[in-house]
Amino acid sequence: IKNIGLFTSGGDAPGMNAAIRAVIRTALFHDVEVTGIRRGYEGMINGDFFPMGRRSVSNIMQRGGTILKTARSAQFRRPEGRQAAYEQVKKFNVDALIAIGGDGTFRGAKAFNEEFGIPVIGLPGTIDNDLVGTDFTIGYDTAINTVINAVDKIRDTAESHDRLFIVEVMGRDSGMIAWRTGMATGAEGIIIPDANIGVDKLFDRLENGRKNKTSRIVIVSECEGEEGGAFEIGRQVKEKFPHLDTRVSILGHIQRGGSPTCMDRVLACRLGAAAVEALLEGYKCDMAGIINNNVVFTPFERAIKHNSEIDPSLLRIVEMLSL
Ligand code: F6P
Repeated sequence: IKNIGLFTSGGDAPGMNAAIRAVIRTALFHDVEVTGIRRGYEGMINGDFFPMGRRSVSNIMQRGGTILKTARSAQFRRPEGRQAAYEQVKKFNVDALIAIGGDGTFRGAKAFNEEFGIPVIGLPGTIDNDLVGTDFTIGYDTAINTVINAVDKIRDTAESHDRLFIVEVMGRDSGMIAWRTGMATGAEGIIIPDANIGVDKLFDRLENGRKNKTSRIVIVSECEGEEGGAFEIGRQVKEKFPHLDTRVSILGHIQRGGSPTCMDRVLACRLGAAAVEALLEGYKCDMAGIINNNVVFTPFERAIKHNSEIDPSLLRIVEMLSL
């Protein structure tokens, strides 16, 4: 392998820049060239390729976002789009790819590898932490720390006004951000519809739980369950418990930005280096991840199996501690 094409795709995540830096420095160490591709699969189709050197990644480790920019490409989901991308890959003499992103990115990578035989290694870059084959995804640790900083602030005002706050966090269809931040903020309730943790439990607690609480925080995962999102849950709470002063707060995209934590930087450095060395060793269609502190490779096919399992014993602890 002489020339690796590198891109970020899907939602950005803090730590993507640290991963880009690790890929480039490791590749150069092994005398392999790196070609950057801007805006993920969109840039691949449009031929937005450029050579990247050692200096092109100086001082980016601490920056959120992605210097390669990112996009969600509808074109690449179609065979014609992938064919157009392949023409560009050939034109720029790229003979392997490293894709940093989440499940959508890896679905595309798998199809591309199957159709054109180009080896692709994926790095898990998403705040959602919803991939099989890694304990944590790059960006998750920063995002959950952003959430707890925000919720701690909400707690201050909730406490001052004796209010209940419904706080919606990201995660698409995974409750990984919700349960961990719920535990870490001492939330009085967590609602993750897709894991069957609905409003019933919350209602039960509000009815039968300790009455003299001065503030209450309920973390709701954004996943589109039957419960209908934070505003709908807020409406139901107001209707059933009119004596509670209830507010809704949606944290939104602040969860995607900011300087990556030490954990995310280290994860990105290790996985970026592992991805390059995996290509040199002959891996072809796998995601690099870390499980129990060891680097492991998982075929894309398995990595994209949505991982939303939340150990019930953890939720028990959340409940027990916030009584
Ligand atoms: O996958 C990352 C994520 O932030 C999800 O948590 C969220 O559902 C989605 O992306 C939002 O995407 P967009 O920024 O395209 O609206």
